[in-house]
Amino acid sequence: MRTVVVITGASGSIFGVELLRRLPGERLLIVTRWGKVVLKEETGKTVRDLEGDCDGVFSDEDLASPLSSGSNPFDAVVVLPASASFLAHVAAGLGDTVATRVCHLALKERRRLVLGLRETPLTGIALENAARVAREGGIVMPVSPFFYLKPDSLERLVGDFVDRVVQVVTGTPVPEGWRRGDLP
Ligand SMILES: Cc1cc2nc3c(=O)[nH]c(=O)nc-3n(C[C@H](O)[C@H](O)[C@H](O)COP(=O)(O)O)c2cc1C
Repeated sequence: MRTVVVITGASGSIFGVELLRRLPGERLLIVTRWGKVVLKEETGKTVRDLEGDCDGVFSDEDLASPLSSGSNPFDAVVVLPASASFLAHVAAGLGDTVATRVCHLALKERRRLVLGLRETPLTGIALENAARVAREGGIVMPVSPFFYLKPDSLERLVGDFVDRVVQVVTGTPVPEGWRRGDLP
């Protein structure tokens, strides 16, 4: 499985960093211009630090990238975290950066698209944009960690949510689920 992972300039870069570690298969990474700033601010990391956790890093600016073409296969795009601005671009059908272009490709080629929206509160504009993308088949998955597994650390909280993203992308069940042991 080949997945394009996009890290934007929304808060929560740590989720994207952990996704690279946990996602099975081939992972191709794009970090937006503001994604780089927030990544550094929140995790102290640069894109170079993430190279070891992915199979290739692509510039967001170079639209001559092989990722810009729908004829090149990939199975899924995950944007984590996704800014409200990024969501607006995708909802408007804009593809003027490599990251927005791969999202457009995912929608038009009916490949999996997951947007881990991270913004609060949400404007009506963002809600309408989310609905628009969802109607096109995109999965809008707000960065919304859960607490029923009683995370005792930030790492655990982030990891549990990222496992849930992996489940949505790949269909692989999360390692632990709410009262899973009670299932037959
Ligand atoms: C420290 C920092 C945190 C930010 N957090 C958010 C956020 O949580 N959600 C959001 O939608 N935008 C956030 N922004 C604003 C985005 O970075 C900005 O809208 C940017 O244009 C997004 O561009 P991109 O989606 O291409 O990365 C933040 C900016 C900074 C500098």
